[in-house]
Amino acid sequence: MRIKFTNLYKLAPKKKYILSKINELIKNSKFVGGKEVKNFEKNFAKYVKSKYCISLGNGTDALEIAINSLNIKKGSEIIVPVNTWISTAEAVVNNNYKLVFCDINSEDYTINLNDLKKKITKKTKAIIPVHLYGNPANIFGIKKIIKKKNINIVEDCAQAHGSKLKNKHVGTFGDAGTFSFFPGKNLGGFGDGGAIVTNSKKIAEYCLRCRGHGALRKYDHKFSGRNSRLDTIQAGVLNIKLKNYNNVIKKRNQLAKIYFEGLKNINDLELYKLSKYNKYSFHQFVIKTKRRDQLRNFLIKNKIDTMVHYPYMLNELKFLPKGNKLINSKHLGKKILSLPISEEHTKKEIYFVIKKIKEFFKL
Ligand SMILES: Cc1ncc(COP(=O)(O)O)c(C=O)c1O
Repeated sequence: MRIKFTNLYKLAPKKKYILSKINELIKNSKFVGGKEVKNFEKNFAKYVKSKYCISLGNGTDALEIAINSLNIKKGSEIIVPVNTWISTAEAVVNNNYKLVFCDINSEDYTINLNDLKKKITKKTKAIIPVHLYGNPANIFGIKKIIKKKNINIVEDCAQAHGSKLKNKHVGTFGDAGTFSFFPGKNLGGFGDGGAIVTNSKKIAEYCLRCRGHGALRKYDHKFSGRNSRLDTIQAGVLNIKLKNYNNVIKKRNQLAKIYFEGLKNINDLELYKLSKYNKYSFHQFVIKTKRRDQLRNFLIKNKIDTMVHYPYMLNELKFLPKGNKLINSKHLGKKILSLPISEEHTKKEIYFVIKKIKEFFKL
């Protein structure tokens, strides 16, 4: 059996509907903006239960624009967990703020609150918790820590569409939440895409202007913005995929349950610790072992694809800050391994992966 990590062709369901939607948009020559995009913004805002959704060209722009919208004063510090995709850090650096790295939890790989307390200074003006792998970061804990301090929260939800804390969608706790619709994401288009959700009218208006050269209408520029729009065809694809998205989460949870059951009690293999208060979207299923490279090679020999998210911690990149006392994340990039999981994987495939992992550990 050959098990791919992701099969983007299979992850595009309802191809008939999607193709006829694309056909309709071509016929009407609707390529930028329009009803389809507005509908997606309405649908996605409704899905996450947020007042506003501003669709954008990608999730990186979403983070950069969201941070920019907060109007934080020059020289401020912004805290980012050290285990995340580079975009989270770029949002800080590209806006000319000081990037401060925070350690992560060993149990779920999201921002570590003990370290966060230590990293907050008078200059801290924002935190970007990342709901990495679909695991909700402890926003309640973060809010407790920053209570009465003037610190903003932008949630990076690029990997966590539909994840929840106490039945409330990630992205709706802070000042803004940012999403990516990159094709490999749980809710992915046929190209790049992103969005910001917020309950603040002020932030929503800023983001809306920013994505369109500082203008809401043609030639109505109020500041120098950029061009970052979700194109109409992507909105069409996403509108169709969003309708089925709860089933995607359901299937991913079913498969994750099989992994948890099948891989428990293996010495030298660590699984996530889940909280009963959270709902997980399982964008990735990440395991940890000191024998990661050997295990990965063994799985390759058995035609099972895996990936590493990520092989380096961001403080290991030479052009980013070195960070301070990042204990749990030290050498993490050498120990973690992402196993295949998606709504298109079968239970049989997951059982096969488990069988081979057990074989590797001689169980
Ligand atoms: C955690 C995280 N943040 C931000 C992004 C950026 O999204 P995009 O690729 O759409 O720019 C990604 C995408 O890989 C991500 O995984």
